[in-house]
Amino acid sequence: MNQGGERLQKVLARHGFGSRRACEELIALGRVTVDGDVAVLGRRVDVACDEVAVDGVVVGVRPGLVHYLLNKPKGVISTADDTHGRRTVIDLVPPEPRVFPVGRLDADTEGLLLLTNDGDMAHRLTHPSYGVEKEYLAQLRSSPSRSAVRSLREGLNLDDGPTAPARVNVVEADLVKIIIHEGRNRQVRRMCEAVGYPVIRLVRTRIGPLVDRSLAPGEWRELSALEVRSLEVAVRSTGD
Ligand code: URA
Repeated sequence: MNQGGERLQKVLARHGFGSRRACEELIALGRVTVDGDVAVLGRRVDVACDEVAVDGVVVGVRPGLVHYLLNKPKGVISTADDTHGRRTVIDLVPPEPRVFPVGRLDADTEGLLLLTNDGDMAHRLTHPSYGVEKEYLAQLRSSPSRSAVRSLREGLNLDDGPTAPARVNVVEADLVKIIIHEGRNRQVRRMCEAVGYPVIRLVRTRIGPLVDRSLAPGEWRELSALEVRSLEVAVRSTGD
């Protein structure tokens, strides 16, 4: 057993699992493991070499990995390189370490976009089998009819196949909240167009557990360790 290092509850508290007291409770409940063994109270760990997990999900971010949450402004494209010299989302975040966007938002779409150098996380977040929810606010050209909302909810046929059922709420008149877990090209715009209500403004307001109403367009921030963990949980519980 590692007698150096820090007390386990202190490490957990620093990673956002609540007060030290609450973290002691987690340990006492047997929900915490160190290198695969259930930890006991009083355990000390060295985060540089011990693998700490809560409910089977590893705590902390592996060294060298970064995760940025960006509020993409309209007009910026989300491919890593634009051959036409347009501004890309990569131009809005630090150049080192190199990151890439997880999935895409259309040039005209605004809102939350994750950028990371964590290939495994990116793969899981974009893979349809993990079905991570994405929430959008769509302003339509006019107030949608009840039957249009029903079709959006139930799923409809697009030229690349049927869409899965979506959660759809009319927030006010022509403003609709749409939650999908697929990530097809221009999906929300095409769905709304298909029911006769073209989108005039589209904003992504949530990616799985990630929300942030305080980021201004063009601003980014690093995810907290707790947010990274919540993403790991999201891609774990819905995937294989
Ligand atoms: N759906 C769209 O239509 N556009 C996006 O950028 C994302 C989802």
